[in-house]
Amino acid sequence: MHSIIIFASGAGSNAQAIIDHFKQNGQAKVSLIVCNKPGAGVRDIAEREHIPFLAINKETFGEAMMIEQMTDLNPSLIVLAGFLWKIPASVIQAFPNKIINIHPALLPAYGGKGMYGHHVHNAVIRNKEKQSGITIHHVDEVYDNGNTITQACCDVLATDSPDDLAARIHKLEHFYYPRTIEFLLKSM
Ligand code: GAR
Repeated sequence: MHSIIIFASGAGSNAQAIIDHFKQNGQAKVSLIVCNKPGAGVRDIAEREHIPFLAINKETFGEAMMIEQMTDLNPSLIVLAGFLWKIPASVIQAFPNKIINIHPALLPAYGGKGMYGHHVHNAVIRNKEKQSGITIHHVDEVYDNGNTITQACCDVLATDSPDDLAARIHKLEHFYYPRTIEFLLKSM
């Protein structure tokens, strides 16, 4: 069975969608959740789902001990699910081509530093875009830059608030992220 490590900083709804998907399909299991934000909702998910949880900070992120702990789990993929820190070179080099991210917009539009979560949806609405969507991509050493694996679009309505758009984007994410992971695992 494949092992997946999830990195998350927030509520963890994508983490939950991935956990639920692979509980059903049995092809993989989430062997660790890594989180940089004390009090993040994803911690409760880890506890409820009995998944080991690793809290990191600026000092421990990318340290040899952290990499060893991850390597011991032999992950097929490291999945960033609402994780907001840049991944250090030491982690990227330890897991080449194994790190993927989801971004709540159609990259390269609305990407880069400071463009995350509601900041993205606020900017999309402010610019009166007719469409937005999600991008799932490989992670390299430049923020929001790696090769695109897949994108999916949705409409932006003239009446949308940032929360309306966030909810529509989350639906897309919860559908496509687990299935994209499943697709990648099948080709390994
Ligand atoms: C998701 O919409 C994800 O695309 C976004 O954070 C949200 C996390 O939600 N990620 C970024 O903005 C990364 N640049 P969740 O904690 O409920 O999964």
